[in-house]
Amino acid sequence: MSDDSRPSPSAGPSAARTAAVIPAAGRGVRLGPGAPKALRALNGTPMLIHAVRAMAASRAVSLVVVVAPPDGAAEVRSLLDAHALPERTDFLVVPGGQSRQESVKLGLDALPPGHDIVLVHDAARPLVPVDTVDAVIEAVRDGAPAVVPALPLADTVKQVEPAGTPGEPEPVVATPERALLRAVQTPQGFDRATLVRAHETVTGEVTDDAGMVEQLGLTVVAVPGHEEAFKVTRPLDLVLAEAVLARRRLNDGF
Ligand code: CTP
Ligand code: MG
Repeated sequence: MSDDSRPSPSAGPSAARTAAVIPAAGRGVRLGPGAPKALRALNGTPMLIHAVRAMAASRAVSLVVVVAPPDGAAEVRSLLDAHALPERTDFLVVPGGQSRQESVKLGLDALPPGHDIVLVHDAARPLVPVDTVDAVIEAVRDGAPAVVPALPLADTVKQVEPAGTPGEPEPVVATPERALLRAVQTPQGFDRATLVRAHETVTGEVTDDAGMVEQLGLTVVAVPGHEEAFKVTRPLDLVLAEAVLARRRLNDGF
């Protein structure tokens, strides 16, 4: 299919060629003791279910691949069976790995043919609005091999010489110009073949998938992110997430 004949994300089932890989295999150490982070409840529903629904809310997404905690695939499968998804959306569950990068690779390996666009979305960003998801898909359809949702920073950022011991003062070595910086979120969107090649060839530490595509020498583009796409990382983030859900319930007239 040529680019011109690709329907928009809001088009009907014929547009359904996007798959979402959701890494959900982390423990959530920074959130504190308890169940794996993706299985913690927000407003009574596991974070992972919110994240899956956020991807399935896009009419373009026809498959969601959940990368479960290594010993939790069966539990995740029954959770997904118990929580309704739109009829157009299939799901698969695979066990994850030791690092996020490894978990994403395991999700990619499980993707069946027929999806040319792949989103990678953190289970820890359960509240991303569908307009952000669609904007990422749209930019991939428009020809970008990799797309990230991104926001300007509120804080000034300093580069430091990290101290050997936590809590020790650290010398500041530089202050990058804030206007040139963006905080990057998920879902990140990719031409599937590009992302697969990146995961097969790039080695070493990376903190996001688009960074691997950058290492291939390809251009990554940023589209506007959303404040509700924040990552649930520390306990205070749970409070914020519950507050966002409460505000949505009010606005929806529940
Ligand atoms: N992730 C994963 N496999 C891993 C590690 C992380 O699938 N081995 C996933 C997490 O489940 C999460 C996303 O990657 O949805 C982003 O990672 P992060 O927010 O760091 O989650 P955790 O690694 O679980 O949290 P922490 O770093 O505090 O332990
Ligand atoms: Mg982590």
